[in-house]
Amino acid sequence: MNGFAGVRDKENGVHPPLLRWGAGRINQGGSTLRQRLEIPYLWEDRVPLLKDRLFYIPQHYEAHCRSVFPPWSSLFGNIHHVHIEYCSGNGEWILEKAATHPHLNWVAVDWNFRRIQKIYAKRKSRGLKNVFIVFGESFTFTREYVPSESVEALYINFPDPWPKRRHAKHRLIHSPFVQELSRILLPFGTLHLVTDHADYGQQMRFMLDALHQWKWTEPDDLADYGTSYFARLWQSKGRSIYSLRYQKWPSEDKKPFTHFAESLPIKKSDQTL
Ligand SMILES: C[S@@+](CC[C@H](N)C(=O)[O-])C[C@H]1O[C@@H](n2cnc3c(N)ncnc32)[C@H](O)[C@@H]1O
Repeated sequence: MNGFAGVRDKENGVHPPLLRWGAGRINQGGSTLRQRLEIPYLWEDRVPLLKDRLFYIPQHYEAHCRSVFPPWSSLFGNIHHVHIEYCSGNGEWILEKAATHPHLNWVAVDWNFRRIQKIYAKRKSRGLKNVFIVFGESFTFTREYVPSESVEALYINFPDPWPKRRHAKHRLIHSPFVQELSRILLPFGTLHLVTDHADYGQQMRFMLDALHQWKWTEPDDLADYGTSYFARLWQSKGRSIYSLRYQKWPSEDKKPFTHFAESLPIKKSDQTL
């Protein structure tokens, strides 16, 4: 039985994105495992909830209360630096980072519960203690729960591009979100963005260059960056991959606007990620 049993469709009051999750089977390493992770409350009782190193943030919920979210040091049981990946998908990139960088604390965020189920199952099977999972919307999580100047690095790999012009307003990387990212980063913390969508990459670049809190820096070498489902998918279709890296810059020291360029001013790599 799942947490929203009996609430099946739009007419019954569930917003369509909530229907993207559900108990089911996942395939992992060739074997099919029964998925046990479920949303631990009914729709009508939904509330932000911390359970099993997973933070549930309900959609269509306004009564956020920061006090339900403990400091990072309590969540991880150490004072290591925190790195967040938004839009983690099935978690391949972040789980590998967590395995190879055990001295860092990693936070995976996604609003698709099927993908959260996969991250949860793989975290368990790999025994990764330095991964915390957030099931929720990235901007909401950041604005409502993440303390200021508490994160060392942020990553967004292949955010949904919303390629149609009339849908571009749905893109995650917009100015209020980026302002929140600068609030939560430590001074000189870094923001890493990777996309296959040149127009979206260009938009990110212009937006960040126009904000004095951010300084463009040499992008990550994608050969060493790590890989993900969407990285491989777009590489296999021959698409170019674009990478951006920014650093949070002290506000009293405004950087000069030197980075506007005529051609696409972001690193482009056709190497396998
Ligand atoms: C194109 S996939 C990329 C997944 C992964 N980063 C990869 O490279 O394979 C985009 C992911 O972002 C998630 N997503 C999109 N918008 C989101 C938002 N506002 N908050 C949280 N997750 C979001 C989707 O559920 C999806 O898993």
